[in-house]
Amino acid sequence: MFVVVGVSGGIAAYKTVQVVRALVTNGHEVHVVPTEDSLRFVGTATWEAISRHPVTTSVHDDVAEVRHVALGTQADLVIVAPATANTLAKMAAGISDNLLGVTLLATTAPVVVAPAMHTAMWDHAATQANITTLRDRGVYVVGPADGPLTGGDSGPGRMAEPDEIVAEALALVEREPEAPAGDLAGLTVVVSTGGTREPIDPVRYIGNRSSGKQGVAVALAAADRGAYVHLVAAHVDGSVLDTALHHPRIAVERALTAAEMDTAMRAAAGGSDVVVMAAAVADFSVPEVSDVKIRKEDGTVTLDLIENPDILIGLVRERGAGQTIVGFAAETAADEAELQERGIRKRARKGVDLLAVNRVGWQQGFESARNAVLFVDTSDQVTARAEGSKRAVADALWDAVLRLR
Ligand code: C5P
Repeated sequence: MFVVVGVSGGIAAYKTVQVVRALVTNGHEVHVVPTEDSLRFVGTATWEAISRHPVTTSVHDDVAEVRHVALGTQADLVIVAPATANTLAKMAAGISDNLLGVTLLATTAPVVVAPAMHTAMWDHAATQANITTLRDRGVYVVGPADGPLTGGDSGPGRMAEPDEIVAEALALVEREPEAPAGDLAGLTVVVSTGGTREPIDPVRYIGNRSSGKQGVAVALAAADRGAYVHLVAAHVDGSVLDTALHHPRIAVERALTAAEMDTAMRAAAGGSDVVVMAAAVADFSVPEVSDVKIRKEDGTVTLDLIENPDILIGLVRERGAGQTIVGFAAETAADEAELQERGIRKRARKGVDLLAVNRVGWQQGFESARNAVLFVDTSDQVTARAEGSKRAVADALWDAVLRLR
């Protein structure tokens, strides 16, 4: 197979040497296309020795052979590792001011990127938007992993390991050109998850017990059934997001406060087929967040809270043609009849097409791996029930959505 390995300017470039070596050892013809900046980390001599082919960064070499186009058109697979925030941004915009950019525009082969950057850069809305754009275009994203980063920090942003990049890239080519299979294939869905945190001062917040498990299960179920998923995550427990971060059809965006969630959901909802608000959004926030830590010595503290806008109602108001909107309701109810009645009333108040209602209490609903919900639709009746793992409940939700569409 003819493989182009693009290398952009990150310290992880040294690990890409292993990617190239593994591909060459497996009998593939590998051409390395470094960016100028990446040569500060690993030089031309290394790439030429390992790949056994000449290496250039310039579109002006081998002009007679139209090398800049030839590389892209000949490629059966393109891997960009490490993919810096800058290179991802250029890819998303289609900028071709170096040989790698030109090659990426000229190719119709599957493209795999292995992002590597500091956590703050990975989390930035611009990078996440670029990743979403690339995923929507069919680019496959491997990693980044969560772990130690350059400079002593730790978090998501570490480039995936070389053997993982090679294995996923080769598996992708074997899978191509298969379109995603499943009863949700062709749909773009937006799912929110987790609990928002409303800051009080630099170290404190008002939060809730949402673990994010149910919303992530909804996102994974949709993606496994063929949909493209934009997952907007507030605070979630521990490793709850991990599987979603590695799913080829899920782009994760972080939104930690109700206001951030509002902005992210409104932006993501436009053009999507289904919106599921599974996040536990704070109903109130602190209008004047203290810039300094509030101290005990200051005496009794009174927090004035203002009501947050209801994101779901806003999304229903601004809904696009043909869009299905689903809400969740966590209710404390004395019995089943009260739960139903509350669900029916809330469905109407929110104006959603479908409301998944679950009973919560001190021992029920939140951190648990299991859930029990009833679904209310615009007929103002309970049309389905689901009980079991959060994944089983998620699949029942998508079954109910499909019945409505
Ligand atoms: O009114 P309640 O909080 O019970 O409604 C729950 C539903 O509304 C959930 O789908 C939740 O994501 C959404 N919600 C919202 N904006 C808020 C509060 C809740 O979108 N401010």
